[in-house]
Amino acid sequence: MKESLGLEGKAAIVTGGGAAGDGIGNGRAAAIMLARAGARVLVVDRFLDLAENTVGMIEAEGGEAVAHQADLGHEDECQGMVAAAMERFGRLDVLDNNVGISSKGSVVEEGREAWEQVMRVNVESVFLASKYAVPAMIESGDGGAIVNIASTAAIRPRGMTAYSTSKGAMMSLTRAMAVDHGADGIRVNCILPGAIHTPRLFHRGMTDEARERRRKASLLGIEGEGWDVGRTVLYLCSEWARYVTGQCLVVDGGMNLTTRPRGSGVEERRGGALA
Ligand SMILES: NC(=O)c1ccc[n+]([C@@H]2O[C@H](COP(=O)([O-])OP(=O)(O)OC[C@H]3O[C@@H](n4cnc5c(N)ncnc54)[C@H](O)[C@@H]3O)[C@@H](O)[C@H]2O)c1
Repeated sequence: MKESLGLEGKAAIVTGGGAAGDGIGNGRAAAIMLARAGARVLVVDRFLDLAENTVGMIEAEGGEAVAHQADLGHEDECQGMVAAAMERFGRLDVLDNNVGISSKGSVVEEGREAWEQVMRVNVESVFLASKYAVPAMIESGDGGAIVNIASTAAIRPRGMTAYSTSKGAMMSLTRAMAVDHGADGIRVNCILPGAIHTPRLFHRGMTDEARERRRKASLLGIEGEGWDVGRTVLYLCSEWARYVTGQCLVVDGGMNLTTRPRGSGVEERRGGALA
């Protein structure tokens, strides 16, 4: 006997659902997994061609998806994205808030503009997308599921201060939204991915050595893939998670339980004083 995930005929939005080439990012994997479970998916990206690549992959498997271009750092584009899903599918059941951009330095090094941009894209986009998605879910009549893609950087920062802070805010936003919208039948959860090998990393020129270091950093000694995040999104959006809300689930092969590797810079800056 087959068990249903309860997503047949449902409608989903995946933000940042594109990825370079035929590589698998966290959003692309989630879009494909949701479509495989029978959901119709609006794949949203700043770059239409990247969203279209994802749609092509879904259609090649017989799934239904539509590409939508939006820069989610702007309120009107968040609103337009939800309107596009309602217009195309006539309902909205799932929102995967996957868009995220990175940052580099400490509070001393980071410029104010860069800080504001990270907060706008990583936190405000979740606020704005949800602001318009929640009423659409309520109107659709079957509750809904929202998943926010944070990062283990929220609980184990690695020197990307604006990024880490934005991802921590997403955890709090997740809990607040879960409290506010539980009575509407809307579940809100958060995923904290660890070192996931996605196209953005290999396009930024990650070396083989760095990739190997990331692989070894997990307790399991395996490399995280977009599929690991995509499958977790699918679970959290499915009927199987009907009693799960307000949770922040770490998907990192146990990396957050390990100690900081030596040579990461801290002991040198403190004159080797750290054990
Ligand atoms: N890759 C990792 O190791 C890792 C680890 C932890 C968390 N994450 C999080 O997972 C999410 C996805 O990361 P990824 O590495 O899979 O993909 P990614 O960085 O390549 O981003 C996916 C897509 O988002 C789009 N995008 C960026 N800014 C946008 C905007 N303002 N509006 C619309 N689209 C926009 C990009 O064009 C891209 O196609 C991010 O939130 C990231 O912070 C990634």
